[in-house]
Amino acid sequence: MKNLVIAVDGPAGAGKSTIAKIVADKLNINYIDTGAMYRAITYKVLQNNIDVNNEDQIIEIAKNSDIDFKDNNIYLDGKILKEEIRTPEVSNNVSNIAQIKEVRYLMVDVQREIGNKSSVILDGRDIGSYVFPKADYKFFLVASPEERGERRYKELIKKGYDTTLEEVIKDVIRRDEIDSNREFAPLVKASDAIEIDTTGKSIDEVVESVISKIR
Ligand code: C5P
Repeated sequence: MKNLVIAVDGPAGAGKSTIAKIVADKLNINYIDTGAMYRAITYKVLQNNIDVNNEDQIIEIAKNSDIDFKDNNIYLDGKILKEEIRTPEVSNNVSNIAQIKEVRYLMVDVQREIGNKSSVILDGRDIGSYVFPKADYKFFLVASPEERGERRYKELIKKGYDTTLEEVIKDVIRRDEIDSNREFAPLVKASDAIEIDTTGKSIDEVVESVISKIR
């Protein structure tokens, strides 16, 4: 049977990963968090005290990194990554590192390899527009900046970070701007993607609208 590829794109905090994880479970297919891959490289760059503006060194790091997924968890050089890639420091730097074309090529190779050998739902920014332009289903999730900021803010507070709602909204808007305006494979809605506005909707409602399009 042919592999099923489902693309879920959209700006930060639109609910992509929450929805994609549940849909993966319901359909019994793999879930790939492509944002976690760019976060993993950013984490390694920061861990190695590499200047975040030094593109050559960042590309070297990306080339010498082994990124893999097992049971929907991301592994970097054989070690599982969890909350260490979700810190404000990683979030503040990830979009600049994700702009580097060579870094993207390397990550996209891994994403395509996974999608070519198993049924998968991937969440990201460029999945439907660039990584899998022929994906079986494409969704583009959006929500108001206030709601997206609020979701991220609640997550961070729950994890014990000291931040303000204002700061988080600013970060979300700044990342979207960088992601939308980068030259190579920017954040964009594929012309054949189904747009779902998640503002004011429950998780169940959004999952239901995604599933109903697939069945
Ligand atoms: O999805 P998440 O917010 O964790 O992604 C972190 C960052 O990784 C995004 O802000 C974006 O800069 C980058 N990214 C990307 N392309 C993807 C997924 C994420 O550029 N497919």
